Amino acid sequence: MTESGKVATVSLEGKTASLPVHSGTLGPDVLDIRKITAGLGVFTFDPGYGETASCTSKITFIDGDKGVLLHRGYPIAQLAEQATFTEVAYLLLNGELPTGTEHDGFVETLKSHTLLHEQIRNFFNGFRRDAHPMAILCGTVGALSAFYSDANDISNAASRNLSAMRLIAKLPTIAAWAYKYTQGEAFIYPRNDLTYAENFLSMMFAHPSEPYKINPILARAMDRILILHADHEQNASTSTVRMAGSTGANPFACVAAGIAALWGPAHGGANEAVLKMLAKIGSKENIPEFIAQVKDKNSGVRLMGFGHRVYKNFDPRAKIMQATCHEVLGELGIKDDPLLDLAVELEKIAIHDEYFVKRSLYPNVDFYSGIILKAMGIPTSMFTVLFALARTTGWISQWKEMIEEPGQRISRPRQLYTGSPERDFVPLAKRG
Ligand code: SDX
Repeated sequence: MTESGKVATVSLEGKTASLPVHSGTLGPDVLDIRKITAGLGVFTFDPGYGETASCTSKITFIDGDKGVLLHRGYPIAQLAEQATFTEVAYLLLNGELPTGTEHDGFVETLKSHTLLHEQIRNFFNGFRRDAHPMAILCGTVGALSAFYSDANDISNAASRNLSAMRLIAKLPTIAAWAYKYTQGEAFIYPRNDLTYAENFLSMMFAHPSEPYKINPILARAMDRILILHADHEQNASTSTVRMAGSTGANPFACVAAGIAALWGPAHGGANEAVLKMLAKIGSKENIPEFIAQVKDKNSGVRLMGFGHRVYKNFDPRAKIMQATCHEVLGELGIKDDPLLDLAVELEKIAIHDEYFVKRSLYPNVDFYSGIILKAMGIPTSMFTVLFALARTTGWISQWKEMIEEPGQRISRPRQLYTGSPERDFVPLAKRG
């Protein structure tokens, strides 16, 4: 962060505050309001923090108007096309793309942490078989701290790095076992001869009774889907992880909080909601009626997978996801996938409809992801689990960055109080 040399002078009822303006590497400058209360005696007001920079960060940059997404300066399209997920995970965590040796060491370290304590198997048995896998993921990740007391020593860099590796390595195992548990199938243990994406597919779809053959097309698609979901600046779940982390909570608890926040249909739960929406629409003939419902504010119906707090243009991930969709379905020999046809037609209609254009509503990362995942045999209930699996790398990178920020302090927003003025207590006997 550099001083721009610019200062905003704000006056109110005879009081004045001089607020410095800071510049980053890319994107708009920020107005530093930390002295506004001392100067003017007022708070700022920004419900949902849509206009507020909560931190400085070097990890991800988004330009919502231009549809730009960079991870440590590298465009998402180049990473999705040319990198593996473990290279991107290393990049997010450490700031630079790994050399061959660094990458090999990183992957080997991850492989030494893919197993879960055998006691954790008992956690799954506490859930009903029809439990949503996100509930199992959230509970089990939060409980991991009970097995790694060193995770509480967040002032120790080695401990922070070990917790990061444990989370990145164990999330696929927990996610796959959550799925297997709901299916009543045997847990499949991690295999260290496989890549990160291959290992997840193996734990999801293998059976102990027979060898499991990795489909390279699905493995490459899975790897790319993980890259596209890895990090995304200060979104709701990442802000939740940072908020929890600012109190000094252990990283397992912070990531569990992030999983809980991601679950909502307005956020990471949208991929699951898109599939339900497409199933409800059913056929292209029903699209006009559905669009009319979306435009009717009283219907409460939203075009899921469309719109974004930051992107007011195409989400660059959606474009890559759509291309991957066509690729995977084609390579799987799925010629006319009705869901994809319906989604493509829905997008075509929506992006030319004044209602959506005027509101800058375009497809986001969730619009096509569910179609690929369904084609890969992943059940709808596991879509957000996959999102959480990938985003764990982003969450823990952002958590580390926050903890290592000099002068880091607990987050504590204020409010505009609109409740009752002070009044005296009335004893029950006198309240009639
Ligand atoms: C993710 O933040 C991130 O980076 C998130 C994410 C990440 O990687 O972490 O990118 C992942 O969460 C993607 C978003 C997934 N969610 C959905 O697809 C759910 C559907 N989309 C929306 O609910 C909505 O677009 C949000 C939640 C994504 C954004 O909400 P905003 O910024 O609060 O949008 P808004 O309500 O200010 O929208 C402005 C207008 C409103 O209409 P008016 O009051 O102006 O008449 O657009 C309308 C909204 O009603 N609108 C929609 C709509 N999204 C917004 N109308 C119909 N369908 C939609 N999807």
